[in-house]
Amino acid sequence: PAAPAVRASRDLAARARAVLPAAAYEFYAAGADEEISAGEAADAWRDRRLLPRVLRDVSSVDTGTELLGTRLASPVLAGPTAFHRMAHDEGETATAAGVAAAGSLLVLSSRATRHPEEVAAAAGPWWYQVYWLRDAEITRRQVERAVAAGARALVLTVDAPYVPPRATSGLPLPLPEDDELCRAVGVGTRLPGWEQDPSLGLDAIGRLHRMSGLPVLVKGVLRADDARACVAAGAAGVIVSNHGGRQLDRAVAPAEALPAVVAAVGDRVPVLVDGGVRTGTDVLVALALGARAVLLGRPVVWSLALGGAAGVTALLDSYRTQLSTAMALAGCARVADIGPDLLHGGA
Ligand code: FNR
Repeated sequence: PAAPAVRASRDLAARARAVLPAAAYEFYAAGADEEISAGEAADAWRDRRLLPRVLRDVSSVDTGTELLGTRLASPVLAGPTAFHRMAHDEGETATAAGVAAAGSLLVLSSRATRHPEEVAAAAGPWWYQVYWLRDAEITRRQVERAVAAGARALVLTVDAPYVPPRATSGLPLPLPEDDELCRAVGVGTRLPGWEQDPSLGLDAIGRLHRMSGLPVLVKGVLRADDARACVAAGAAGVIVSNHGGRQLDRAVAPAEALPAVVAAVGDRVPVLVDGGVRTGTDVLVALALGARAVLLGRPVVWSLALGGAAGVTALLDSYRTQLSTAMALAGCARVADIGPDLLHGGA
């Protein structure tokens, strides 16, 4: 039988499916093309085996960590996902409140269905995710607004120069029609100026940093050479991700790409990772492979749909509890104790 944590994460998607409109569930769940990458991300974490340490005094375990100067209750963040008002009436405002109550950090999507000021009012620490759009003026206005609202860093997503066919492509998004922002975002994302600029190059990192005065993390990196180039261009961090399998299908699982990126830049900037992280033990494996933190995509959306802000808090609390247990059983009293020696076969 599946371990309780795995069963809980499978149940989460199934329970969310039961309460969401079908088109919303399909939009959130979908991967690109044949959904090969979307299907195997979680298994890549579960394939790793551990070598626990014993007799290390784990009477008190601390999952706390610090990321770009921000103290967090655990190294598990809420990643950027679009259109939260399809999952819950309050949308990103509820997500932000739920994340804050868990002592975590929200990366707010630039495809959000709440204004950044509304989200900021409910949020603890938050970062703002950026798509560099064909109409750079829209991008500049979005960034300035996020900076003014209090974003502590920017996350430039670079794995989406185009959006590939997905099962739900072309279907209307079931967004609230009476809401001006939802109409603007839903319609806007299909207008030419709102498409991601496919000519984007490394100089975008420096431009974004100068525009905002904020650290810029680059999300969607899977290769060591790209990671090195991003850091040389001024990136304050790198997020190893294949966008939840929604961009290039057959892109390697983040769990498999992570070690080479850590080896390339991990001594200079924090390396984060997302994709298929479903249990606290997955988090332990990611940290043992050298990640400084992980981000959750779909689990946050499912929890929002099921329980609003409280659901998001409960999700993050359960990851923290699971991580704490896994750390204790692996002989790690604090996050800094987690290292590659825990991995059978090495990182
Ligand atoms: C995403 N993702 C994403 N990424 C981003 O940079 N900006 C965005 O607006 C979105 N929107 C989005 C919507 C939905 C419905 C999903 C599922 C994903 C990608 C996201 O940040 C993250 O990389 C993956 O979701 C991580 O994988 P898991 O945790 O969903 O397996």
